Amino acid sequence: MIASRQALQLQVNGADAEVRVGLHDSLLTVLRDQLQLTAAKRGCNQGVCGACTVVRDGWPVRACLSLAQGCAHSEIQTLEGLNQQAAMQTLQKAFADEGAFQCGFCTPGMLISAHALLLHNRNPDADQVRAAMSGNLCRCTGYAPIVAAVLQAAEHLRAQEIAP
Ligand code: FES
Ligand code: FES
Repeated sequence: MIASRQALQLQVNGADAEVRVGLHDSLLTVLRDQLQLTAAKRGCNQGVCGACTVVRDGWPVRACLSLAQGCAHSEIQTLEGLNQQAAMQTLQKAFADEGAFQCGFCTPGMLISAHALLLHNRNPDADQVRAAMSGNLCRCTGYAPIVAAVLQAAEHLRAQEIAP
């Protein structure tokens, strides 16, 4: 109900964002429906698929399970905000090179999780990539191209000395 909504200031992609939220509004709802940041996808909307993954204070989180009001003091980053970063562009090129997406619905969440992994581990092995991406489901690719893409991107970033 509109009457029960309260003003909330979020930090999204480095900027202040004024929104109005109800007690139970998720971060995903606010990002998609109020801020028109639609890269994070509403898949299962119950914490299973990872399609809604965004970065909160440096770590990937499920936006569908995050209450918007709980994010007031956090820095939120979405794919829209990370798109201009060299590391994210390297990841996107690697996904294209390796055929790591088909329908693409899972891809924004995959990229967010991969970027967060490389932020904390510049030289992951395949098992570490699988573990980091294990919360992101893909119906199309069989996962092997995704793991290969993340490893390729990590190698390129190390070679170019680009920090995620
Ligand atoms: S939409 Fe959030 S985990 Fe599936
Ligand atoms: S590319 Fe279709 S769900 Fe992953």
